[in-house]
Amino acid sequence: MSFYELAHSRFSVRKYKSLPVEEETLEELFKAVALAPSACNIQPWVFIVLRDEQSRLSFRTVYPREWFYSAPVIIAACCDHDRSWKRNDGKDFGEIDVAIALDHLTLVAAERGLGTCWVGNFNVETACRVLRLPANVAPVALTPLGYPVATTNPEKVRKEISEFVFEGYFGGKRTT
Ligand SMILES: Cc1cc2nc3c(=O)[nH]c(=O)nc-3n(C[C@H](O)[C@H](O)[C@H](O)COP(=O)(O)O)c2cc1C
Repeated sequence: MSFYELAHSRFSVRKYKSLPVEEETLEELFKAVALAPSACNIQPWVFIVLRDEQSRLSFRTVYPREWFYSAPVIIAACCDHDRSWKRNDGKDFGEIDVAIALDHLTLVAAERGLGTCWVGNFNVETACRVLRLPANVAPVALTPLGYPVATTNPEKVRKEISEFVFEGYFGGKRTT
């Protein structure tokens, strides 16, 4: 599968089969996470895996959507802000690093026939408590992980390239 085909095959999965995810597969996903680039190669990411019923149950207050819990695995991608790189204007690149790492995970998952769905609309305060995060570690995004019920790729609703790529300056028309 080419990278374009892989990127095209990934979609937000919101219904999962009750099949477990193999330990080796999970390991493969985190190997791909480890290869992600990060500012100054600091790798400020922290991933927390929730698999047992008890921790998944306690997570229901963090993201109270029924579909989310059809997945056998929940992954919380977090950022260690004590370690993340800050530019001299104060901009913290940690969440960008974590997003790239989580994107690696979602793409390798898609390659393995697994589904994921980025979730940002969760309760941060509750997540910090349930995940027992120290003050310097913040949750960035969540994803369920599991085998999707539907494998058909829904139609991608995307902008035209001409809407977001410009030549030379903002709004500059491309000649090609
Ligand atoms: C940073 C980020 C946050 C998102 N948060 C949510 C969310 O809270 N709930 C949800 O159902 N989907 C969420 N999504 C999924 C998007 O809705 C989805 O990626 C988008 O509609 C494109 O569809 P596709 O992933 O199937 O290509 C999020 C995606 C990203 C990248």
